[in-house]
Amino acid sequence: MISEREKTQFELPRGLLGRITFIFMNRGHKSIYENVAKVSELKPEDDLLEVACGNGHFLKKYASHVHSIAGLDLSELSVELATKRNKDRIAAGTAEIVQGDASQLPWEDDKFSVTTAMASFMMFPEPLESLKEMYRVLRTGGRVVICIEWNAEDGKDHSKDIKKYGMQLWTEGDVREMMKNAGFSDVSINYARGMMMPKMMLARGIKS
Ligand SMILES: C[S@@+](CC[C@H](N)C(=O)[O-])C[C@H]1O[C@@H](n2cnc3c(N)ncnc32)[C@H](O)[C@@H]1O
Repeated sequence: MISEREKTQFELPRGLLGRITFIFMNRGHKSIYENVAKVSELKPEDDLLEVACGNGHFLKKYASHVHSIAGLDLSELSVELATKRNKDRIAAGTAEIVQGDASQLPWEDDKFSVTTAMASFMMFPEPLESLKEMYRVLRTGGRVVICIEWNAEDGKDHSKDIKKYGMQLWTEGDVREMMKNAGFSDVSINYARGMMMPKMMLARGIKS
């Protein structure tokens, strides 16, 4: 377990370096955002929660058409930037950005129709608890989409990344098991390619 002080800008963006990191991150994650948007099939009637929303780029650019958006992130800087980026919708009452931990979502049961997490799930200290929380806040029939950019199926040697990012590495079987244990049914796994991501895994499940 690494301490907070040792966390990379990827795990916990902060300060000037965190702001700069987001500029490059938003460019580098384009394929992630596009694939998550595609697999989520976001519709105008959706109420979307993005866990670990970073600077709110996905919410602003890929979810402008949905009924309501919410974002949660552990980093104070992420919350500041995501709030700024989505200020018009916040003022209109259709957006909410809060600081918090993925394993303890501050919303009531059955609030959202879609929950998602991208470029973050494999760094959560409590992934199963976080997935259970995403299940809890979904209403019946709602869907979750988790993007696992680096995984044990992608053929890359991740030994350095595991150390550097405090990351966990899962097989498709592990992810299916986790989704099932969190309560999701109709689990499907898709793969896509992205920058430095030979086989990003997109896991989708339904709260039935
Ligand atoms: C690599 S960034 C990705 C941000 C965003 N999802 C994107 O792709 O643009 C990872 C984000 O996860 C957040 N994060 C890390 N651990 C978290 C946790 N336990 N709960 C909530 N957010 C967390 C970090 O603060 C950071 O903003």
